[in-house]
Order: sequence, then C-alpha cells, then structure tokens
Amino acid sequence: MTHSASVITIDGPAGVGKTTIARRLSETLGISYLDTGAMFRTLALNLGLAAEEMSEEAIKSVCSHYRFQLEGHGITTQLFVNGKLVSSEIRTEEVGMLASRLARLPAIRAVLADIQRSMAAATPLVAEGRDMGTVIFPNARFKFFLDASPEIRALRRMRDAENHDQPTDLAKLTEQIRLRDVQDRTRAIAPLKAASDAICIDTSDKDISEVLGLMLRHIDASGGLFPNR
Ligand code: C5P
Repeated sequence: MTHSASVITIDGPAGVGKTTIARRLSETLGISYLDTGAMFRTLALNLGLAAEEMSEEAIKSVCSHYRFQLEGHGITTQLFVNGKLVSSEIRTEEVGMLASRLARLPAIRAVLADIQRSMAAATPLVAEGRDMGTVIFPNARFKFFLDASPEIRALRRMRDAENHDQPTDLAKLTEQIRLRDVQDRTRAIAPLKAASDAICIDTSDKDISEVLGLMLRHIDASGGLFPNR
C-alpha cells in the first residue's frame, strides 16, 4: 500500500464548495481534512508578488520558515502555521488571486507538495485543492472532481459573503472567478483538471447534502476508506 491509500481527494475550481464538502465528509468519516488552498493563500499573503522575482532557492529558503501543522479531525480540524491558526485575512478574493499567481511557481508547489504528502503519511485525510488527485496523491483511494458554472459559483460566494454581512458585487465576483479559472486551468505545472480516475460531479443543481450523499454512497459501495478494518 502506498502512503496515499487513506486519502480522499477533492479537486475543483474556486467557489465550487470544496472546503465545505471536505469538512462535512471528514466529519462523517472521523478523519481530518486539508484545505491546500489555505496553504497557497498563506504563503501568498506573506511572500507577496515579490516572490515572482525570486530564485527557486530563495523561495525554498523563505518557505522553510513556514511550518504547517494539522490538528483535530472532522469539522474541528485546524490548520496552523508556525503555531498560529491560519489567518482569516487569507480569505479575500484578492488573496485568492495572488495565491493563484504564485501557485504557478514550481518552487512554491514543490515546498507545499512535500508538506501535503507528509501530512497524509501521518493521518488519513480528505485533501482538497486543484492537483490533489492528479499530482499530489495519484494513488488516492477515492478521487472526486467538483464543478459548476462560474455564474453559479459566484452566486454562492455572494450569498456566503452576505451571510457574513459583507455585501459583494456579483458581476465583479463572477469576473474574478473566471479569471482565476483561466489562470488555474492553463498554467504549465499541475493545472486544474480532473484526474482520469476521478468521479466528476456537476454541483450546479445540487446542494451540499446531495453532493455529500453521492460521495458517501460511492465510498461505501467501494468498500469504504478502510476496507481491511
Ligand atoms: O482553493 P483556494 O481558492 O483557496 O485556492 C487559492 C489558489 O491556490 C487557487 O486559485 C490555486 O491557484 C491555488 N491552489 C493550487 N493548488 C492547490 C490548492 C490551491 O494551485 N492544491
């Protein structure tokens, strides 16, 4: 068995609901979840666009000062960086865009790939991001790819923001999501795409519970995450 036998990967574009689904799925299965976008966002917030001008060695050296750690499981899973919870400042669309720019840099991807794989070696995980099923965990036991149109994803993000009393311009949000999609799907390294063996779910006309139900039925029908238990 490889180190990623107890990993469930969820990939998909911005705003498709990966984090919410990953949290709920990990809660049901009693394992941890890893929001890899939060790792890219944290490095982006700290390094800024200046990283684009740095050498690979310099990026690796700076990144070695950021120690990510995963604690707890299910919806109480928490991601720490250097002993502190990842900051809520990373959650803006502007930081998402910056993360997407820096996510094109091989050195940043290499640093995070090592950390993500060592986390999965330590504990069973639901890992969500863009390249979990294609690059980081090609041997994952279960792979899912979620998708929905940019309009629907922007609308969900807007409702989410409104629930947090943060009014948002829908047209601007749709445009930002489209731009990030292009950047993530067309980059040279680890572009956003479904793994050939991933189960693809169009979530456009499904709510969270329906998507979760589909995933759980698939996992159960294939013997569960721990078939030998
Ligand atoms: O998922 P989230 O929107 O938080 O991710 C922010 C950005 O980080 C994405 O747009 C993407 O460019 C990058 N990312 C990535 N690979 C991952 C997770 C995120 O390239 N596994």
